[in-house]
Amino acid sequence: MSERLRFGLVGAGGIAQSYAQAFEASRRARLAAVADVRFEAAKALGEAFSCPSFESHEAMAGGAELDAVVVCTPPSSHPEICRYFFERRVPVLCEKPLSIDQTSARGMIEAAQKAGVKFTMASKFRYVEDVVRAKGIVTSGILGEIVLFENAFTSRVDMASRWNSRPEISGGGVLIDNGTHSVDLMRYFLGPLAEVQVVEGKRSQGLPVEETVRIFVRSQAGVLGSIDLSWSINKELDSYLNIYGSHGSVCVGWKESKYRQSSGREWVVFGKGYSKLQAFGSQLDNFAGAIRGEEALLITAEDALASVEVIEAAYADLRRSHWLAVGQVAGEPARRAAGKGAAAPRP
Ligand SMILES: NC(=O)c1ccc[n+]([C@@H]2O[C@H](COP(=O)([O-])OP(=O)(O)OC[C@H]3O[C@@H](n4cnc5c(N)ncnc54)[C@H](O)[C@@H]3O)[C@@H](O)[C@H]2O)c1
Repeated sequence: MSERLRFGLVGAGGIAQSYAQAFEASRRARLAAVADVRFEAAKALGEAFSCPSFESHEAMAGGAELDAVVVCTPPSSHPEICRYFFERRVPVLCEKPLSIDQTSARGMIEAAQKAGVKFTMASKFRYVEDVVRAKGIVTSGILGEIVLFENAFTSRVDMASRWNSRPEISGGGVLIDNGTHSVDLMRYFLGPLAEVQVVEGKRSQGLPVEETVRIFVRSQAGVLGSIDLSWSINKELDSYLNIYGSHGSVCVGWKESKYRQSSGREWVVFGKGYSKLQAFGSQLDNFAGAIRGEEALLITAEDALASVEVIEAAYADLRRSHWLAVGQVAGEPARRAAGKGAAAPRP
């Protein structure tokens, strides 16, 4: 099959603009229709990218011949829209988070399996060339045993008037919004995740949801991950991913990616940084290739479900308190040595 598959976009907001550009560069997928409940948004995108526009996903399904759809609407609408297309045996690439809770996510996956259609969650960072190369470096073993994984996605963004800060639509705050990317990245590098802990920072925008969190995750293999997420600060970091092994480190950055073995003096640059267009293009190509049966999905529906499960566990943990008031502990130094994770007593 040399024809590019015909994709419909549901939702013509922010992220749909990136998809529209990525379709133009894709070898395997093209934009064939766009739908949005704000018809003016669908019309504007349709005109800019020369495809028909519709006022709803139902109207699009009835009015356009489609091989697949990408769902780019706010999270709470994902289950209903995805199921609508499964019933019509149309494959769906659904933007992250797959859903705002585990139960509906499971239901979506079962419905897709029952219909026999390809279905997964879009998670662009797995398709970033530097991330894929970094994974190869980690897997090769040249950094030794991996001990610590660090990720940060922080940028100041006013969420007061956006659906992202309305939990009934978004499922929560920055934890589910940016954290879904983080958790998927961490699983990509470290495999299944076993435990999660979350602490929340100050809410400077006064939102009803968390704006800044630090997440600690332990992988099943015992590797510790630390993830910083914020809508309120920008940490101005060069790299968003740092992985430390017993014999070296790798840093994946916005403008450059590099690694260094402890035995080597110099950092070895292996990538030019982050390109949104490249990542979205590769993601579309992988999904189209999987529909054609030419390649496997890089992110499976099970991966998507695992992300939802980790985020749900993270929220459950966020509701508990980990803090111990300073001055409230009658501690003798001798006891510290016996504490969990404390250093062994010196002879
Ligand atoms: N991969 C990424 O980097 C990335 C970045 C931003 C957002 N996202 C995800 O993409 C999705 C959309 O986010 P956004 O920032 O583009 O939001 P947005 O608010 O900019 O756009 C969403 C659009 O969906 C439309 N819409 C809402 N309900 C609809 C329905 N039932 N049918 C049709 N259209 C409907 C809205 O009118 C709006 O135009 C979310 O799941 C979000 O988490 C992913």
